[in-house]
Amino acid sequence: MRRAAVVGTGSALPVRRVSNAELAAQIDTSDEWIVERTGIRFRHIAGEGETTASLATDAARKALDAAGMAATDIDLIVLATATPDQTFPASATIVQHRLGVGDCVAFDVAAVCSGFLYAVSVVESMIRSGAANNALVIGAETFSRILDWEDRGTCVLFGDGAGAVVMSAVEDGRGVLSAKLHADGTYNELLYVDGGPSTTGTVGKLRMKGREVFRHAVTNLASVMGEALDAASLTPDDVSWVVPHQANARILDATAKKLGLAPEKVVVTVADHANTSAASVPLALDTAVRDGRIKAGDIVVLEAMGGGFTWGAAVLRW
Ligand SMILES: CC(C)(COP(=O)(O)OP(=O)(O)OC[C@H]1O[C@@H](n2cnc3c(N)ncnc32)[C@H](O)[C@@H]1OP(=O)(O)O)[C@@H](O)C(=O)NCCC(=O)NCCS
Repeated sequence: MRRAAVVGTGSALPVRRVSNAELAAQIDTSDEWIVERTGIRFRHIAGEGETTASLATDAARKALDAAGMAATDIDLIVLATATPDQTFPASATIVQHRLGVGDCVAFDVAAVCSGFLYAVSVVESMIRSGAANNALVIGAETFSRILDWEDRGTCVLFGDGAGAVVMSAVEDGRGVLSAKLHADGTYNELLYVDGGPSTTGTVGKLRMKGREVFRHAVTNLASVMGEALDAASLTPDDVSWVVPHQANARILDATAKKLGLAPEKVVVTVADHANTSAASVPLALDTAVRDGRIKAGDIVVLEAMGGGFTWGAAVLRW
C-alpha cells in the first residue's frame, strides 16, 4: 500500500538562547515560577536577519541532507506557520526559491500550534493519492515578534525555531498509518492575536487565557490520540514514542496519564525550546531521531493543539 513516510528530519534554532533568569531581570517573574508551572528553562529568540523563512530554509536543508536527497527531488512544500515573513506570498515559496527547488507546489498552512499536524495530514493525503512524491513539511515560527513583552503570563512561554521533515511515497509498511484533525472556532477568544491585515492593519500581539487553554488541551489531546490509534487499529501499549507539541511539561504529563502511556515514552524538549508553536513537534522529532531514540519499525505518535482551537494527532510506523 502506498503511504507517506518520513525519510529525513532537520531543525534550526536562532543563535540567541535566553534563560529564565535573563527574563527575570527584565520582567516580574522568576526561574522558579516558570520551571514549576511549565518546565521551561530556555528559549531561543530570533535576532537580526533571522526570520521564519530563514529558519525554515536551514531546517529543510538539514532534512534533505538526512534523507540523502537534492532540493530538485522535491515536488511539494507545505510550511506551517502563524508568523510568516510577509502576509503574502507564502513563506513556503521563499523556502522554495532559497533552496533552488524549481517548479513545485508550495503553500503555507495556518493552524498555529497544530499547524505541523495539519501539514502532515494534507501532505500524506497528497502523497497517498499520487499528487506528490517527495515533500518538504516544515513548521517554523518567530513568535518572539508577536509577544507582548510586558505580559508575563504569555511572554515567558514561547520561543522561536523551525523543524522540517522530508516525506516520500513508500510501499514497504512504513509511513503515516492514520491522521485525525479537529477544529472548534467557538474558542477563538481563549488564544488569539489582537491584530491582522483585514481588521487592524497591524500584526497584533498574542493574547491567552492560559488556565482555560490548559484544561481543553489535556482533554482534546488525549481524545484525538485515542482516535488516531483506533483508526490505525493500535492501542497505547503499541506506542514506542509520543512526540507532542511542547507547550508545557504539565500538559504532557497529564495527557500521557489520561491515556495510560508511560511517561518515559514521551519526548520532552520544552525545557530547551519553550513553546515554538508549529515548530515544536518537528523540532522534538528531529531531536529524538538524531539522538537515536526513534528507530526503524517504531510506532510514533505526533500530537498538537493550538489556537482556534485546532488539534490533531498522527500515527506513523518509522
Ligand atoms: C500559563 C500557565 C503556565 C499559567 O499557570 P497557572 O497555574 O494557570 O497560573 P495563573 O495564570 O492562574 O496565574 C497564577 C498566578 O501567577 C501569576 N503569574 C502569571 N505569569 C507569571 C510569571 N511569568 N511569573 C510569575 N508569576 C506569574 C499570575 O499573575 C497569578 O498571580 P495571582 O494569583 O496573584 O493573580 C498555565 O495556565 C498554562 O500553561 N496554560 C496552558 C498554556 C499553553 O500551553 N498554551 C499554549 C497552547 S498551544
